[in-house]
Amino acid sequence: MDHNTIVHDIVIVGAGLAGSWAATVAAREGVRNVAVLSKVHPLRSHSGAAQGGIAAALNNVRPVPGSGPEGPLEQLPEGADPVDSVELHIFDTIKGSDWLGDQDAIEIMCREAVDVLYEYEHMGCVFSRTPDGRIAQRRFGGHSAPRANYAADWTGHVLLHTIYEQALRHGVKFHSEWYCLDLIVEDNVCRGVVAMDILTGKVYTLRAKAVMFATGGYGRAYKITSNALANTGDGVAIAYNAGIPLMDMEFVQFHPTGLYKHGILMSEACRGEGGYLLNKNLERFMQRYAPGKMELAPRDLVSRSEQREIDEGRGIGEDGQGIWLDLRHLGREKILERLPQVREIAINFVGVDPIEDLVPIQPTAHYSMGCIPTDVNGQVLADANGAPVVGFYAAGEVACVSVHGANRLGTNSLLDASVFGRRAGHAMAQFVQSGAVLPPVAGDPAERNRRRLCSLLDNPGSELVEDIAVDLKTTMTNNCGIFRHAEGLKQALADIQALKARFKRARVMDKSSRFNTDLLAALELEHMLTFSEVIAATALARDESRGAHYRTDFPQRDDSRWLVHTVAHKNGEDGPRLSFKPVTINWEKYPPQERKY
Ligand code: FUM
Repeated sequence: MDHNTIVHDIVIVGAGLAGSWAATVAAREGVRNVAVLSKVHPLRSHSGAAQGGIAAALNNVRPVPGSGPEGPLEQLPEGADPVDSVELHIFDTIKGSDWLGDQDAIEIMCREAVDVLYEYEHMGCVFSRTPDGRIAQRRFGGHSAPRANYAADWTGHVLLHTIYEQALRHGVKFHSEWYCLDLIVEDNVCRGVVAMDILTGKVYTLRAKAVMFATGGYGRAYKITSNALANTGDGVAIAYNAGIPLMDMEFVQFHPTGLYKHGILMSEACRGEGGYLLNKNLERFMQRYAPGKMELAPRDLVSRSEQREIDEGRGIGEDGQGIWLDLRHLGREKILERLPQVREIAINFVGVDPIEDLVPIQPTAHYSMGCIPTDVNGQVLADANGAPVVGFYAAGEVACVSVHGANRLGTNSLLDASVFGRRAGHAMAQFVQSGAVLPPVAGDPAERNRRRLCSLLDNPGSELVEDIAVDLKTTMTNNCGIFRHAEGLKQALADIQALKARFKRARVMDKSSRFNTDLLAALELEHMLTFSEVIAATALARDESRGAHYRTDFPQRDDSRWLVHTVAHKNGEDGPRLSFKPVTINWEKYPPQERKY
């Protein structure tokens, strides 16, 4: 072993909920040498930005009897009939997914939700509470019972702190501010990763018996996004370049309430607590689109409704691209107690206090339903037939199990990351402890990656990375956004080809090795160009509308042709080659239906 090589039993890339859960479980089940590599400080992982809740049918609260769908909630009295069930959670998730979610995986997620919640509670997680001390719950879009378990509007933050503490307690080693450059897969066996210590610029090969990606999503490929700066889809592109297929990439979620012009999340809890959406005429326009659920329809439907209002000239703001979020009727006390972060963000970024004023918002790129295909134990799948990539696992937003199908319900992502991160940790522990050996690595992958960095640093080209990134975000937003059509998607593909050509002439201005964020921005851009092409190509291929993928030229869902997952395979320098995989459906229990709210 040379000084460029580090060896662990398990290497996990990404320290959010999925990564930290997996690390904690593997370590507490006895794997000695578990390491987590994180591009940012682990507590800055994007899981911490999720605000409104984590789903589980705990049955702690119910609507006050006779109070109607928007009425107040109360704690469920002793002995009263429950209002929620695991079955209902499963059905809501399947319906939310527009029947593209794999129903076996959804069942597992919803069943294990309750146990995961109590595990968080036993770890000391500071949830908000009902008067008698149970975990507090609120309503959320597309859920037919109040099952968003929350800690004010800091839910992701408190969950992340809780599980990170556990990882430290169990002796997990964190490589903080290390950037993954490459995934080493040979002969369908994963052998490790190559990563750069951002502080020093040194590049290492990290060999391991098992590798897991928990690298999160890619919202930064869009102009307006709720995602952290770090969410550039590095893991998605690195896996794809290493020959791992990507599944259901056409499904990009737009959250209805990003802060106007900034995209920062204004939690769905605003609407869960009773907030209204208003157009420029101060009309609650959801009446037109989802009279049964109003503002608490699922995200795809609410974002589309907002965009229609905007496109038809009823938006607000100087460019007409905004919508009003009205929380004033909730009252000061409720806003301070349940939505303190939302209030702080509104005051700090747009100078508006939701207690007194309307808040300008707009749809914001929020979540990737697709990405790396896995089974329910986090095992990455090499193809549509379900063959595994030995020793390679994924969980959280970078993985596609698939529990969200064509549209995720709010609060199911913290749950997905927790349940499947926990399962992947267990699966990796079993794999490592059942005699897995450290697979050999051919050549010097670190050196290959060093050469790649040098060629970026030495490029004398005149193109600015930032300019190419802006143009990518513009075409993705204009052509691959909430509403799509063939012409626009072809334009996006042509634009991405042209941007790839420009990237070959991209110049990195900072030539130093320590904390070179200019170099990182170039690497991130290359990753965004890679997976954006897959999003556009799969969106063009799917000539139907389902969940978050809405084709104005094919506005109907077409189960006869498209009740399948799209699997995109890298095909040299050409666009992806597509294959298709059946959706797992329990035809007796949950046959596809028309999706109405
Ligand atoms: O709106 C929110 O609080 C976000 C939650 C989620 O994406 O699950």
